[in-house]
Amino acid sequence: MLDSKGFDLWADGYDKSVGLSDDDDTYPFAGYKQILNEIYNRVLMNKGNAVLDIGFGTGALTTRLYGQGCRIWGQDFSQRMIELAKDKMPQAKLYQGDFSQGLAEELKQNRYDAIIATYSLHHLTDGQKVNLIKSLLPLLNDGGCIYIGDVAFKTRAEMENCRTMIGDEWDDEEFYFAADELVEVFPCMKFEPFSFCAGLMSLKR
Ligand SMILES: C[S@@+](CC[C@H](N)C(=O)[O-])C[C@H]1O[C@@H](n2cnc3c(N)ncnc32)[C@H](O)[C@@H]1O
Repeated sequence: MLDSKGFDLWADGYDKSVGLSDDDDTYPFAGYKQILNEIYNRVLMNKGNAVLDIGFGTGALTTRLYGQGCRIWGQDFSQRMIELAKDKMPQAKLYQGDFSQGLAEELKQNRYDAIIATYSLHHLTDGQKVNLIKSLLPLLNDGGCIYIGDVAFKTRAEMENCRTMIGDEWDDEEFYFAADELVEVFPCMKFEPFSFCAGLMSLKR
């Protein structure tokens, strides 16, 4: 599992390597751009423009929303990712911090129309994911929505099939999503698959 220093080192080449994996339709980023586009469209269609991005990385998604007038808040633990994102979104309020320890105090004081997390929460165990999502729900404005796009499957059995297909390339240190298990905790959560290894989970307040 990459720590903040690992992401610092990946940051400058991140967009290119993710784009190649997506273009080649290979694990783990097959479906990446489609998911980001879908979240982008849904956030803009919804009313309100306050957006929190958890693990924003280079700002691939939030930079586009920022360009459309959204007000952006975010948290990431990689100094280099923050520098790259800040360059593109000078007015965004970006905080450095490990989200496995919760959100920065300043972020907890605000309310959001959309809370997004793309390809970041698989760094949390399943229990940590549930706790984080529970802590995010009260931060949504009425009609607001949490969007989680990631390596995700409807069931754990589908995840295991994919693991077998991928073989040695599978990253055993990451905790991907079995959506059905989250739906047991959050019955209103919706799961939509976008590729053989990726999906979008959305949860309205
Ligand atoms: C694979 S990148 C995804 C970036 C971006 N959301 C995207 O869709 O391209 C994961 C991001 O989450 C951040 N991250 C991973 N674990 C984290 C943690 N525990 N706390 C804060 N940030 C974390 C990394 O620094 C990195 O920027």
